[in-house]
Amino acid sequence: MRAAVYEQYGAPEVVSIRDVPTPTPQDGEVLIRIRATTVSTGDWRARSLAMPPGFGPFGRLAFGLRRPRQPILGTELSGTIEAIGAGVHEFRAGDEVFAFADAKFGCHAELRCLPASGLVARKPANLSFEQAAALSFGGMTMLSFFRRGALASGERVLVNGASGTVGSAAVQLARHFGAEVTAVCSGANVDLVRALGAHRVIDYTRADFTASGERYDMIVDTVGNAGYSRVKRSLAEHGRLLVVLGGFLDLLLAPLAGRIRAHRVIAGPALARVEEFDRLAAIAAAGAFTPVIDQTYPLERIVDAHHRVETGRKRGSVVVTLGA
Ligand SMILES: NC(=O)c1ccc[n+]([C@@H]2O[C@H](COP(=O)([O-])OP(=O)(O)OC[C@H]3O[C@@H](n4cnc5c(N)ncnc54)[C@H](OP(=O)(O)O)[C@@H]3O)[C@@H](O)[C@H]2O)c1
Repeated sequence: MRAAVYEQYGAPEVVSIRDVPTPTPQDGEVLIRIRATTVSTGDWRARSLAMPPGFGPFGRLAFGLRRPRQPILGTELSGTIEAIGAGVHEFRAGDEVFAFADAKFGCHAELRCLPASGLVARKPANLSFEQAAALSFGGMTMLSFFRRGALASGERVLVNGASGTVGSAAVQLARHFGAEVTAVCSGANVDLVRALGAHRVIDYTRADFTASGERYDMIVDTVGNAGYSRVKRSLAEHGRLLVVLGGFLDLLLAPLAGRIRAHRVIAGPALARVEEFDRLAAIAAAGAFTPVIDQTYPLERIVDAHHRVETGRKRGSVVVTLGA
């Protein structure tokens, strides 16, 4: 099968299309023929070793000391079940699905085997393969953070970086959970973010949300410039700061930060749960979360897709399509 492969860390050009062995489903696995996948900020970090401040030494530990341990990137996919391994009862050949391989990667390929009882679900019929491929990275990140932060209906939520993959998922899911949403993005993305359901939008090039005197029950930082010391006066009593992107120091200090003011700082990696994946599928099928697609590239142009992600300015997700 064809796959996008990288064998050394570096610029997008380290990725090339190669023929690699076709996988065979083991017991309990499904073999998925991939129709669409994404190049995410997770792929960008694993390819380039661009890590958040203070995490530099952990990059090679996570992805491979001398060279990438997993030469095929890609955290999420949509496609059709090609074959099933022994003991699989959840799916049949021909079923349309989407799936999240998360940090195991391997979705920038024509085929991927995954455990049937894991993060694989039927593709919502109202979404295209391109949209379904882009559900998991942002959606699972935000379901995990909203669970840890115990988001409640009626709460005031501010999303910093509302036009990216994670931010655009945060806006839609917060709305779905009944929150009153304020979104922060650049002027060019104000209309997009309002269309996603934000009640109020702040253009960060014109106003600093921390200077307005407004207070929020929850602040979601997907940009890495809204640490606790900057936002503490914008958090209501018992407010929570969700540090989706932060430095090593933020992670270390999270358990202590905010204690005096009865705030909570929640940081660290999102941990995907199977029941949350099924919930994500149901929310999307109900029309409450439709991933935003920035641009779509065929697999042959995956290097261009990596370049687009590296700008840090994409709107939603960069999708890569395969086959028909
Ligand atoms: N903790 C976890 O488990 C976890 C999980 C997933 C992702 N992440 C991290 O979360 C980060 C965001 O991921 P993503 O995929 O959503 O990235 P992305 O799609 O590249 O989005 C980044 C967004 O930041 C916005 N932005 C840039 N400067 C800004 C500023 N000064 N103020 C407000 N917004 C600004 C950009 O919008 P404009 O063009 O409008 O400025 C862009 O849409 C990544 O660093 C990723 O590594 C962490």
